[in-house]
Amino acid sequence: MGGTTEHAGNFVPVDERLVSFFVSLKQEKGRNHMSKIVQQDILQQLEQLQRDAQTALAQANTTEATREWYSEYLSRKGRLTSILRNLGSLSAEERPLVGKVANEVKAVLENALQERQAAIGQAELEAVRRAESVDVTLPGRPQKLGKLHITTRALRDIYAIFTAMGFQIYDSPEVETDEYNFQLLNMPPGHPARDMWDTFYTTMPGLILRTHTSPGQIHAMREYAPEPIRVILPGKCYRYEAVDASHESMFYQVEGLAIGKHITFSDLKGVLINFANQMYGEGRKTRFRKSYFPFTEPSVEMDIECVLCGGKGCPVCKYSGWLEMLGAGMVHPRVLQNGGYDPTEFSGFAFGMGPDRIALQKYGIDDIRYFFTNDARLFERV
Ligand code: DAH
Repeated sequence: MGGTTEHAGNFVPVDERLVSFFVSLKQEKGRNHMSKIVQQDILQQLEQLQRDAQTALAQANTTEATREWYSEYLSRKGRLTSILRNLGSLSAEERPLVGKVANEVKAVLENALQERQAAIGQAELEAVRRAESVDVTLPGRPQKLGKLHITTRALRDIYAIFTAMGFQIYDSPEVETDEYNFQLLNMPPGHPARDMWDTFYTTMPGLILRTHTSPGQIHAMREYAPEPIRVILPGKCYRYEAVDASHESMFYQVEGLAIGKHITFSDLKGVLINFANQMYGEGRKTRFRKSYFPFTEPSVEMDIECVLCGGKGCPVCKYSGWLEMLGAGMVHPRVLQNGGYDPTEFSGFAFGMGPDRIALQKYGIDDIRYFFTNDARLFERV
């Protein structure tokens, strides 16, 4: 109070409490004024932030970029939060407006972010789809198709030709007895003709791998006698061979057998010439040469004009112009008897051919060993 009494002459004494009220009122006014400026400033900053954020968001093209955008503008360490930190300098009346605007800005940006993220997600999905898409309109890659083995094809041709002539296909065993493979075919033990067939023996006495399909003749005859027979007997044969370009230790044969009451050598010739014409093409020359087999009498071998040189002579036909096709003959009376037929009543013819050989000749392949080496290029040649 002391201060006021000192100027007592011209000074109107005032209640000091009143003075301090006015002073504080003035200060309050000043503060009010100051705070208005801060409020404006914050609002502007918010507006600016919204603009900046929208521009930046439009440039964010990846999910990653939108994450960075979020952390820059909306996260707890972001620009919006740092603007709102100044909220404290506002009066209680001013705060709600700024808070409302801030919330609106936040909501607008959050919405924009969601939309942007959805658009980017869609674009990224599209990109993945495009990258992984299959163009169904492209022409497919050609499949490499397998082919039948040449021997299988030759066998099937042979079956077709003979079945059309009334022959049935008859299965007979690959493991044989000495009796069937030799004895019943008119080759008793010690018979010199046995030397024509180098044989694989087993450890069981008398059991061998068949050297030819001819023992099948006995099986067929014993099954059907005294009925007439027309069969072919295809299958594998085994010989103890020195393997070379034209010899293998395992190979195929097709045996043929016809038994009846009036079968003659003309029937044999007719059937075999017909077969050759169908197998190799009409008009190809054939010839019969006399030969010897213990199970036929008379015996022949049939040749065909060389398929490769047309009879002129080439390395394949060893410059003879002919290729050996098969062995054949009229079934020996003793063999007929062993099969259960009376040779005074019945006669028959038989033949045996090698389909591997036929395939070699037909397709001009120079080495039989290719047949079993599993090199598929062999089949590309035919
Ligand atoms: N089996 C004889 C061979 O392996 C081929 C043969 C020749 C079969 C004359 C026959 C035939 O049926 O009559 O060489």
